[in-house]
Amino acid sequence: MRSYQIAAIPADGIGPEVIEAGSEVLAALGQRSGDVSFDLTFFDWGSDRYRKHGEMMPADGLEQLKPFDAIYFGAVGAPDVPDHITLWGLRLPICQGFDQYANVRPTKIIPGVTSPLRNVGVGDLDWVIVRENSEGEYSGNGGRTHRGLPEEVGTEVAIFTRVGIARIMRYAFKLAQSRPRKLLTVVTKSNAQRHGMVLWDEIATEVAHEFPDVTWDKMLVDAMTVRMVKNSQSLDTIVATNLHADILSDLAGALAGSLGVAPTANIDPERRFPSMFEPIHGSAFDITGKGIANPVATFWTASQMLDHLGELESSRRLMTAVERVCDAGILTPDVGGKATTREVTDAVIQAIHGSN
Ligand code: NAI
Ligand code: MG
Repeated sequence: MRSYQIAAIPADGIGPEVIEAGSEVLAALGQRSGDVSFDLTFFDWGSDRYRKHGEMMPADGLEQLKPFDAIYFGAVGAPDVPDHITLWGLRLPICQGFDQYANVRPTKIIPGVTSPLRNVGVGDLDWVIVRENSEGEYSGNGGRTHRGLPEEVGTEVAIFTRVGIARIMRYAFKLAQSRPRKLLTVVTKSNAQRHGMVLWDEIATEVAHEFPDVTWDKMLVDAMTVRMVKNSQSLDTIVATNLHADILSDLAGALAGSLGVAPTANIDPERRFPSMFEPIHGSAFDITGKGIANPVATFWTASQMLDHLGELESSRRLMTAVERVCDAGILTPDVGGKATTREVTDAVIQAIHGSN
């Protein structure tokens, strides 16, 4: 019996609704396989804790998480707590503290889900966006001076290091190499941003020599949005900075039908620390408590977690079950259906038990 210790942090808004659904699905996968179990330990960190104790997680939060095999994360964000506090109080300290420098965001049109793009169908938009997740525009480097005065200044300084760029570039080339098309697009903005982005381009060229079988090209980020919409078939693996990939992956999620199906993995490729798996979406307070949050992104990220843990059969079983359920039209309202979170979850669990 293989058993995995998973830290579950549902946090805010619809986070608890989708993580609860995900934990039921993981239990079903364990039962179906018979030789693997996922033991979830729940942490009540998030905005409720912030309101009571003035902190999103305890000071020794990272120490508490360290022994786990993986982290299963919901979402942060509350209407009455500033977003930079919720994000910098919980999610970003985990990503940075555990050096989860590769943020991996797959997209694909799932059967039963309709893309807003014409002539794009099942299996299309089969992309993986690799987002640099440790530095760049979100490194937290900057400050505010002369607060409240007319000469007030705010700086947000992007940090690009040779080490940081080379390791994400290598990760992206390796991932591209492992996929059938062996195709990588490196996104920058090296015309207007002439220091850090030019360094990206140079290091991409250097690292490319190590992967002669990968075809690669360069795009400026603004032109990339056009290519994703108008020439989507020409893309496969994509690598970009923290900010650029954040934006491009929301676009990818929307083009694939809904943010409610888009997953993400925050990976420490060297496996020194637990990696973290989450849906891309936020806490969605407009639908919190209504029972209609789409759990598919949270299931898909569980499949990424299973891949990371080496549980490939359970991962395949989960994605096949999700695709079957969506194909049968059991969909939440964000993707045009009428089903509840409960109904989608029950159907996926049933499909797992009925799968081979
Ligand atoms: P959001 O992703 O929470 O919601 C955007 C829209 O998509 C909303 O209309 C929402 O109802 C819908 N949506 C999102 N997930 C869905 C799902 N699973 N099923 C059905 N519909 C879904 O983004 P928004 O509204 O900009 O932000 C809300 C809060 O979430 C903010 O406080 C924000 O800072 C936070 N946030 C947190 C993230 C995280 O924890 N990683 C990521 C993005 C936002
Ligand atoms: Mg985002």
